[in-house]
Amino acid sequence: MIAKFTNYQELSAFGADKIIQLVQQKPDAVLCLAGGDTPALTYDRVVAKAQEAGVDFSGVIFIGLDEWVGIQPSTPGGCYYFLQQKIFGPLHIQKDKIYFFDAMANDLKADCNRIDLAIEQQGGLDLALVGIGMNGHIGFNEPGVDAALNAHVVELDEVTTAVGQKYFASGAALAKGITLGMAQIMSAREVVLVASGPKKAAIIREAIQGRITNTIPASLLMAHPRVSILLDAAAATELD
Ligand code: GLP
Repeated sequence: MIAKFTNYQELSAFGADKIIQLVQQKPDAVLCLAGGDTPALTYDRVVAKAQEAGVDFSGVIFIGLDEWVGIQPSTPGGCYYFLQQKIFGPLHIQKDKIYFFDAMANDLKADCNRIDLAIEQQGGLDLALVGIGMNGHIGFNEPGVDAALNAHVVELDEVTTAVGQKYFASGAALAKGITLGMAQIMSAREVVLVASGPKKAAIIREAIQGRITNTIPASLLMAHPRVSILLDAAAATELD
């Protein structure tokens, strides 16, 4: 399903409702939530609605989508930090409900295995909410990724390291990422992709109307049986 919204606010309200409804139906849902600017307002709305409607998030399991290798959980701009500020803190999520990459680990491969195992033990992802990179990446599944991979460490694309500076106050050394693989995202029972603003219009067109190919990882989602692509008007301008 491709849904176009008049603006970012409406897109965010819709995304938030999806998360709230899922948690109301399944209080022990397994959620994988992306960092990045695009879902920020969705998360604010989730918190507001959870508080207004008294939705209990205490049983929800959170699985991290990705992290910049070498970035500490306490560093503003990092994915964990962002989700801590936006979701985990405001909803008082207990640490034992959060499975997030340790991007400072000496053995990143072992950390990937830990997250793979956590997803398996939790019975898979109920919902993955993802953004789209300027190069079509999902999480840190960069162009050319092996779509059969589970969690893995990746040398980041130049576009990703350049764009990624926007999250950090002063120049951050961004070279590698650690991410869930496309296999895990594709196995989620539901996927929601959010894209907002004119700078995403071209890549959204390629992802949605182009060939399904690992050179545009987001295009792989078009083969998912239950995917919602939520676009604001600006991100949808290049669609036919
Ligand atoms: C980042 C993250 C992704 C995110 C994407 C889009 O690099 N690795 O998880 O979804 O790029 O980010 P934004 O929403 O800020 O455009």
